Amino acid sequence: MWIRTVIVTVVLMVLPATTLCADPALARYLGAQSCSASSCHGGAGERRDQWIQWNSGDVHRRSASTLTLARSVQIAAAAGLTDPATHSRCVVCHAPFAAVPVAERLGDLDRGEGVSCESCHAPAEGWIRSHTRTERDGFTYRDKVAAGLRDLRNPYVRANACVACHENVDRDLLQAGHPELIFELDGQTRGEPRHWKEPAGFSGARAWWVGQAVALREVSWQLTRSGQTDERLKARQAGLRWIVERTESIVNPDGTSLGGVTESARIQAAADERARAGAATDWPAAKTVALLQRLAGTAAEFRDAGVAKEIQARRGERLVLALDRLLAASNPALENKLEPALKELFHLAQSLPNFDPTQFAAALERFGTEFRVHALRE
Ligand code: HEC
Ligand code: HEC
Ligand code: HEC
Repeated sequence: MWIRTVIVTVVLMVLPATTLCADPALARYLGAQSCSASSCHGGAGERRDQWIQWNSGDVHRRSASTLTLARSVQIAAAAGLTDPATHSRCVVCHAPFAAVPVAERLGDLDRGEGVSCESCHAPAEGWIRSHTRTERDGFTYRDKVAAGLRDLRNPYVRANACVACHENVDRDLLQAGHPELIFELDGQTRGEPRHWKEPAGFSGARAWWVGQAVALREVSWQLTRSGQTDERLKARQAGLRWIVERTESIVNPDGTSLGGVTESARIQAAADERARAGAATDWPAAKTVALLQRLAGTAAEFRDAGVAKEIQARRGERLVLALDRLLAASNPALENKLEPALKELFHLAQSLPNFDPTQFAAALERFGTEFRVHALRE
């Protein structure tokens, strides 16, 4: 049960005050069947079909049954755990209802439900009755959030909801064969069949950036917790820190820089503050172009022999995701023109042990040249 405690702690630490007032950690869970009526979220019409989309197409619906696959049994056995389908160290992410204590259940919860509506939107006890009221009744979205509905329209709150399951896995589980998790909010949000319309002013590039700052916070937290000796984690932290440091002055010109902060616990706090501030910044199109330009100009840093190869590989990993999301947020013509150069970078960043910083630097230079031709001269 300790992992659940940890996740609840992380969520509580970072949830904004408005959500904390309703204390969602104490509200009870109802389960997806309470959302599925056809007049609610299980109908055929557009914007009434969230349950249907989740139930038929969302990988989260199947995450509990993943634990019954032979591969899961293998991972669990290699980590010295018993049945993965019921083990607390697996269900915490794959079948979160199985980890909900009895005191937090309002009725029977189906442990096979996977990552359910309330895993993302927060336990419904406090908000279920009032959330059907509308602006016409004088009940605003803010009122719903105050009642305990998680404010997933805010990229910072959304990142916190996803990252709890999408960045950190303990080392023994990785060694046992669990895939490594790399959190990237924008791409992963698009990877889920989207059962919503993004709010006006939503920016994929901003979601990417906030997600990276939140990932830096999580990795720093895990590093502090594990006593700062894990080289793999240190390299992951260095990669994230690099991408946030190289970009923060464009994202938030008034903010202070992460530069000079070295202790993990302080990086954790600083990254959280950057993420929160980043979520509230304006995001004109020029910002996305400026970020692409800055990152495309970092080739020389990959030629710096003073930086360990493991760290360069982690920088590369975060950089290709950054370029991908920033291009997707810019315009389709530019994205198409730069696709071959980006593909090459993805290819070179794919394998961490085989990462060759010099080759990567050369490919990044080619990317930079293409970018200048197509973005800056047009
Ligand atoms: C309670 C834990 C939990 C939360 C919260 C959660 N996920 Fe997941 N997610 C998982 C698990 C577990 C899987 C793997 C499913 C499987 O294959 O069994 C997954 C898989 C995915 C996948 C497909 C695999 C991949 O990484 O590309 C996407 C995309 C995804 N999640 C996006 C999101 C987004 C976006 C959010 C936040 C809005 C989110 N998830 C919140 C647990 C969670
Ligand atoms: C911190 C959250 C977390 C924990 C703990 C966790 N998983 Fe996962 N697991 C995920 C996510 C997220 C994915 C999806 C990764 C992706 O596709 O990029 C995943 C993927 C998997 C996959 C691969 C599914 C596929 O389609 O390739 C298996 C198998 C799996 N997990 C089994 C387990 C087992 C067994 C345990 C316990 C020993 C466990 N997981 C613990 C979050 C978690
Ligand atoms: C993996 C996380 C996740 C899960 C699971 C999930 N949602 Fe969502 N949902 C989101 C995000 C992110 C948004 C977008 C932000 C918003 O509009 O609140 C959203 C938006 C919504 C909206 C607003 C739609 C709109 O266009 O304004 C409804 C309604 C909704 N979800 C219902 C559900 C229901 C019902 C379920 C379960 C059957 C569910 N969600 C499961 C993440 C999730």
